Amino acid sequence: MNVLRVLVVPVMVALVAVIVVKVYSSYPSGRVGVLFYYSTSLHEDRKEFKATKESIAALPVTPSTPVSIIIHGYTESSLRSWVVDLTDALLSHDLKSVVILVDYWDLVTISRPYMMINVRHIADITARMIDMLAEEKSVELTNIHIMGFSLGGRISGLIGDRIQTGTIGRMTGMDASYPWLPPRINEEFLDAGDAILVVNIRTSSIGSHSPPGHIDFYANGGLSQPGCQNWYFPDTAKQVCNHYRAVALMIEAVKYAGKEVFSACGCPDLQSFQNNTCDCQIVNNFGLYPNASVLGNFYFSTNSEPPYLRNL
Ligand SMILES: *[C@@H]1O[C@H](CO)[C@@H](O)[C@H](O)[C@H]1NC(C)=O
Ligand SMILES: *[C@@H]1O[C@H](CO)[C@@H](O)[C@H](O)[C@H]1NC(C)=O
Repeated sequence: MNVLRVLVVPVMVALVAVIVVKVYSSYPSGRVGVLFYYSTSLHEDRKEFKATKESIAALPVTPSTPVSIIIHGYTESSLRSWVVDLTDALLSHDLKSVVILVDYWDLVTISRPYMMINVRHIADITARMIDMLAEEKSVELTNIHIMGFSLGGRISGLIGDRIQTGTIGRMTGMDASYPWLPPRINEEFLDAGDAILVVNIRTSSIGSHSPPGHIDFYANGGLSQPGCQNWYFPDTAKQVCNHYRAVALMIEAVKYAGKEVFSACGCPDLQSFQNNTCDCQIVNNFGLYPNASVLGNFYFSTNSEPPYLRNL
């Protein structure tokens, strides 16, 4: 078993790498770069736009339009089904809102050796796009909510440091992580300095290293998720399952927004929650409407499959 595990993964990685290099002759440089799309409840079919004055000026946003910006993770693109589902949930919840998708598939998937440079490049261009929303469309930064999954969470943090027109209202890190990207200093991650309200949902060890936001939700302890133990081999598959639970929970919470809440128990640490030594006097709600006046760590348990919601 262990021998298999040691051999199979590198062989598979090597095979995929060979195929990728053969197919993409321009490896390892980015070919497409950063793409932006927007969707509205009227036109759910995404439309591409560019971070230029002309393109931004044509966007259907007003100063008060709520804007959600979704940033996918490593090896992903904005066509991932969870991105589509989260977009749909956000637009159904708020018909007047606009969802912007940041797509950088090419820049970090093919170009892993260049990730450190490219990740900063993605953040630079996205921050510029947001500054243009503020300058050209007078969009209030407080109406902007950036939601980043995994590496996208880390990119959100870099964006927070690069915006020049003010401070973003809200950022949600969905198991935000930082694969292979030193230096390990808070400015390089999603941390509480990046938006007026920074909220994390943590579901796996991949997302356990990023610094605290203002409100940190830990689902089922924040390291492994019920239902993911069935993925017995290899361990990586279990981790992927735990990691993606962050977006599954977020999508469900957006669908419940205004109807039901994932209430979470305020507790200094996981052990106190597990030992039942927290009296849960302080609660907060995971989802679109956390209570911004109660900060800290919050723990909640979920079911092992949808619907995940299980009240305290
Ligand atoms: C939790 O309980 C364990 C065993 O009963 C104990 O060793 C530990 O100190 C407790 N931790 C907290 C934070 O209450
Ligand atoms: C937020 O929490 C504070 C402090 O516990 C509480 O007084 C307030 O009612 C809460 N707000 C909402 C909207 O639940």
